[in-house]
Amino acid sequence: MKKKTTTNPLWGGRFTGSASKSVQNYTSSVDVDKRLYKEDIAGSLAYALGLKEAKVISAKDYSKISKGLKSILKEIESGKFQWDKSLEDVHMNIESALIKKAGNSAKKLHTGRSRNDQISTDLRLHLDTVIKNILNLINQAQLSIVEKAKVHAEDIMPGFTHMQIAQPVTLGHHLLSWFEMLERDFSRFSETKERMSVMPLGSAALAGSRFRVDREKLAKRLDFNSTSNNSMDAVSDRDFVIEFTANSSILGIHLSRICEELVIWSSSQFNYVQLSDEFCTGSSIMPQKKNPDVAELIRGGSSKTIASLMGLLSLMKNQPLSYNRDMQEDKEFIFSASDYCTSSLELFSRMVSEMTANTERMKDDCNMGQITATDLADYLVERDVPFRKAHEVVGKIVKHAESKNLQIFELPINELQKFTKVISNDVKSYLDPSRGYKS
Ligand code: ARG
Repeated sequence: MKKKTTTNPLWGGRFTGSASKSVQNYTSSVDVDKRLYKEDIAGSLAYALGLKEAKVISAKDYSKISKGLKSILKEIESGKFQWDKSLEDVHMNIESALIKKAGNSAKKLHTGRSRNDQISTDLRLHLDTVIKNILNLINQAQLSIVEKAKVHAEDIMPGFTHMQIAQPVTLGHHLLSWFEMLERDFSRFSETKERMSVMPLGSAALAGSRFRVDREKLAKRLDFNSTSNNSMDAVSDRDFVIEFTANSSILGIHLSRICEELVIWSSSQFNYVQLSDEFCTGSSIMPQKKNPDVAELIRGGSSKTIASLMGLLSLMKNQPLSYNRDMQEDKEFIFSASDYCTSSLELFSRMVSEMTANTERMKDDCNMGQITATDLADYLVERDVPFRKAHEVVGKIVKHAESKNLQIFELPINELQKFTKVISNDVKSYLDPSRGYKS
C-alpha cells in the first residue's frame, strides 16, 4: 500500500496528491545542505531589508522577519532546531520555522525570490568563507615550509629525476619547491574567490522579478563585488563550484605528491626524515612498525577532490538552461572537497613543522650515483669544450669509474686526464658533491 504524507506547505497549492515517504526521502537534501544555514539566514536578512527598502514589505514585517531569523540562527547554533526531512532543504526548513514565529510577515519573505537564486547565493557566500579559510591555511603551510627551509638552507641532499639520483641540491631548495606549488594554489583560489563574487539575488526562478529590490545595495550588504547580468545564467551557473573543486584537486595532488615524498623519505631504506609520532601509527601485529598514516591519508584523500571535480563536471555537462533539480547533487561534492582541503592543510603544516631531517644520511647519499657528473661536464665547458663533447667525455669517465666501483670524485686526477688534457687540479671542487649544489 502506498503511504501518503502531507504535501509540502510551501509549494503544495497545486497538488492534490502528496509525495510518498520514499519520494520525500529521495528528494530531500536537508541532511547535507543544512550546513548552509548561516549563509541562508544572512541572505534572507539582507533580502528582507531590500524588500523593506523597496516598500514591498512594511517596517513591521521586516522587524518580525529579522527577529525571527536571528532567533532561528541561535536555535540552530545551540542544537535545538528541529530539522525536518519532509521540508526538503535548508531553505524550506528555515522558512517554515520563520512562518511559525512570524506568521504572515514571514510568508512575504520569498517575494521575488526563488530557491534557485537563493541556493546560488548561499553557495557563493559559503565558498567565500571556505576559500578565505583555505587561503589562511595555505599561508600557514607555506610558513612551516619556509621555516624548515631556513634551517636546512645549507644541507645538501641528492636531487632526483626519474627517481634516480641526479644532482646535489640543498634540502632548503627542495622544500621551497613545495612552497611554490602552494603559491600557485593560493593564487588560483584567490582568483576564483574574486570571480565568483557575483550576486544572483533578484534573478528569482529564472526570469528575474518585478519587485525593484536595489540589487547593488543588496550585493554590497552581502559583500559581493557585483550583481549578475543575466537571470537565467545566474540560476544555472555552477562554474564557480567546478572551479573550486578544480583548485581543490590541484591542491590535492600537490599535497599528495609532497606526502608521497614524505612516505618515501621516512622509510628505513631512505631514512631522510623522521615524522613526529603524532602523525604515525603502529601495526597491530608488527611491533616495530611506525607507519606514516597521516601522509598516506593526505595522499589517498586527495582522490576525493578529483572525484568531486569529475562528479560536478558530469553533473553539469548536459543540463539545459536554466535551473534543474540535478544541481542539488552538487553539495556533497563541494563539501567533500572543502573538508579535504581544510583538514589536510592543517595537519600537513604541523607535520612539516614537527618533522626532523636526517641531514647526515642525505649528505651520504650524495656520495653515490655519480652525482657530480654534470658539474664535471660544466667544468669542461668552462674550458671551451663544446657541451656535447664534454657530455661524451664525462660519460666515458663515468663508465670507467663504475667499472672500478668508484665515484668520479674518487678517481685520481691523472686517471681523469687520460680522458682529456683539459682537466687539471682545480677540478676537485667541481667533483665535490657538497660544493656542487645549486640553489
Ligand atoms: N535544494 C535545491 C538545490 O540545492 C534548491 C533549489 C530547489 N529549487 C527548486 N525549484 N526545486 O539546488
